[in-house]
Amino acid sequence: MTISDAPIRAVAAEIELLNVSKAYDSKMVVIPRMDVVLRPGEFTVILGPSGCGKSTLLQMIAGLERVSGGKIVIGGREVQDMEPKHRGCAMVFQNYALYPHMTVAENMAYSLKVSGISKINRKERVAAVAKMLGLADYLDRKPGQLSGGQRQRVAIGRAIIREPGVLLFDEPLSNLDAQLRHDMRVELADLHRRIGATSVFVTHDQVEAMTLADRILILNKGSIEQFDTPKAIYHHPASIFVAKFIGAPPMNILDVTGDGTALRTADGQKVANCARAGKFHLGIRPEDIIVESGGSITATIRYREDLGSHEILETELAGQTLRIATPFGTEIDAVSAISLSFPEDRLHLFDQETGKAIAQASNGRQTVQRHVREYQ
Ligand SMILES: Nc1ncnc2c1ncn2[C@@H]1O[C@H](COP(=O)(O)OP(=O)(O)OP(=O)(O)O)[C@@H](O)[C@H]1O
Ligand SMILES: [Mg+2]
Repeated sequence: MTISDAPIRAVAAEIELLNVSKAYDSKMVVIPRMDVVLRPGEFTVILGPSGCGKSTLLQMIAGLERVSGGKIVIGGREVQDMEPKHRGCAMVFQNYALYPHMTVAENMAYSLKVSGISKINRKERVAAVAKMLGLADYLDRKPGQLSGGQRQRVAIGRAIIREPGVLLFDEPLSNLDAQLRHDMRVELADLHRRIGATSVFVTHDQVEAMTLADRILILNKGSIEQFDTPKAIYHHPASIFVAKFIGAPPMNILDVTGDGTALRTADGQKVANCARAGKFHLGIRPEDIIVESGGSITATIRYREDLGSHEILETELAGQTLRIATPFGTEIDAVSAISLSFPEDRLHLFDQETGKAIAQASNGRQTVQRHVREYQ
């Protein structure tokens, strides 16, 4: 059998959240109001700090939590008042939630049995899913006799066996070690391509977000901070919150002042051309800073961390910390003062009060360069 004619194939459903809100009590508003459409077959990753409402959001889609207001439409059907089992969603949890007394085959077949599917059909489907997930040799084992990665695969198998139109994952890989996380990530990407279900995946891991997502939804206190492709989130963050959430080390954010021609740090160094006057936050990613003799900016090295593939320089610029990632092989002779350049097309300008990106272009993407072109 080739990958393309794999027997498990879902009819992907669109998910619409219309004015959805959630409060556990009158003082505890978790989701103030949300309007979002997840396209059929799309892989959405939800990223956000602990407690921002990621699991709540998934559980409302699955039907494990009720909405406090608004509508959820899955595949054209309003589902917010439906039982979870009628919504066409399957969920994979961090803790696997397998039945310990059942074998792998029984765990995977359980939901089919409850839905009254015949024994022969159950067996066929279990065999197909087990083959897809590399579990064919483990069907008679109990979960306690499996490794963490194998258990997680059983949990995934149990979710996909009913060919749901929507697959929901709540931090499914966070109990696994780094190598296994990587392997499972690759498997999940492949599985998504083969099954085609609309997938919503919650994680804290930005590498998982960047590599798995068609679009990343960044959640801040229950509100959408930005919902866009990984590339757009990385290169055109809509706010400081987003800018600092993606990237390791995160984007540098410097306090600067515009005098109508240039942006300057507190010690008077010019860091960019800009026609705006006032106080701003200027963002630049550590890997976008160029270390070069004759650069127009001078910073002081505090310490250096050599990570093999690149080196992180922690420096000080006008009393603020500036991290620089230099590629392998960059010669840095300086012991303290270092000369730098900020490429203008890699700069991000944020409003000092709101933290939102400034100079909104029509497509919602902003850079200082564009800002300079617009205003000069
Ligand atoms: N059953 C509940 N009753 C009251 N408050 C709740 C309940 N479940 C969650 N909360 C609160 O709602 C907020 C969002 O919780 P949620 O579990 O959705 O966060 P999360 O983004 O998934 O966090 P984490 O990354 O830690 O898993 C938290 O402040 C949490 O304390
Ligand atoms: Mg959670």
